[in-house]
Amino acid sequence: MLELVSINGNVTPPEKAQISVFDRGFLYGDGIYEVARSYNRIFFGLEDHIDRLLNSAQRIQLEIGMSKDELISEIYRIYKHSEINDAYMRIVITRGEGRINLDPTQTELSSNVVIFIQKLPKIDPKIYDRGISLLTASVFRNPKKSLDPNIKSGNYLNNIMALGEAKKKGADDALMTNREGEVTEGTTWNIYAVINGEIVTPPDDADILRGITRKTLRELCANNKLKWIERPIKLAELVKADEVFTTGSVKEVVPVSQIDGQKIKNCPGAITKLLQKLYKGYIDDYCSARIGKYS
Ligand SMILES: Cc1ncc(COP(=O)(O)O)c(C=O)c1O
Repeated sequence: MLELVSINGNVTPPEKAQISVFDRGFLYGDGIYEVARSYNRIFFGLEDHIDRLLNSAQRIQLEIGMSKDELISEIYRIYKHSEINDAYMRIVITRGEGRINLDPTQTELSSNVVIFIQKLPKIDPKIYDRGISLLTASVFRNPKKSLDPNIKSGNYLNNIMALGEAKKKGADDALMTNREGEVTEGTTWNIYAVINGEIVTPPDDADILRGITRKTLRELCANNKLKWIERPIKLAELVKADEVFTTGSVKEVVPVSQIDGQKIKNCPGAITKLLQKLYKGYIDDYCSARIGKYS
């Protein structure tokens, strides 16, 4: 089998995968998820992704009933059914099925665990040289105190609305700000500015999801004597930066060519290119160190 879906451990071809319309993920987006990418059969950063999944579960008091090790083993057990060497994996855990009733404390609820193994989505290789264009969305990123972006829930309407707006206006993707006009993140990625040779990104406590790729980059910068600064960035400052780039698990490090129609000075800039290279090297080392561990 190539692409597949596992529902509570039962593996099916994608077209046969079915779940109840009473599932709370479907009804309310009441669930959590993670996405990881495999490189020659090793899921990069899976331990971190599962930590984040468990944190999301705890934040919404969702009982998964599986430990970190059990989740990792289960993902690799399911993956063995697929022949895709470089795969896209999504694990979705919902609060399960019950009566149509918002109450998350209903006793009959039991979580549903769904794992998708798919081919990687087609990524146009040109984005790594030419960059992507961004549009600042008119909707603000969900503030931490309303719905913390660190809860990686199935409810992505905030980001979907932003992306829809950007696409309609001809941009590749949407950048999101907060009420103070500070940059937060994009629809599925974190954002960075290179200013006077320093890599600047919104801080951990901004309205952002703390990306695994962001965490890796922070480590790479420390190991390679690159200056990493976390502080609020105003939109006007971002647009004038020497370089701008985004990061996410699927597309990795992507340069930004323009924001709201204004050209970014260098795209891709030298530091963006260096980080693209360092990140690739890091993935290679990570995966090489795990060969044979999960096969
Ligand atoms: C809103 C948001 N921000 C940032 C990211 C990047 O996170 P990561 O580097 O862990 O893929 C994602 C990834 O899905 C995301 O959805």
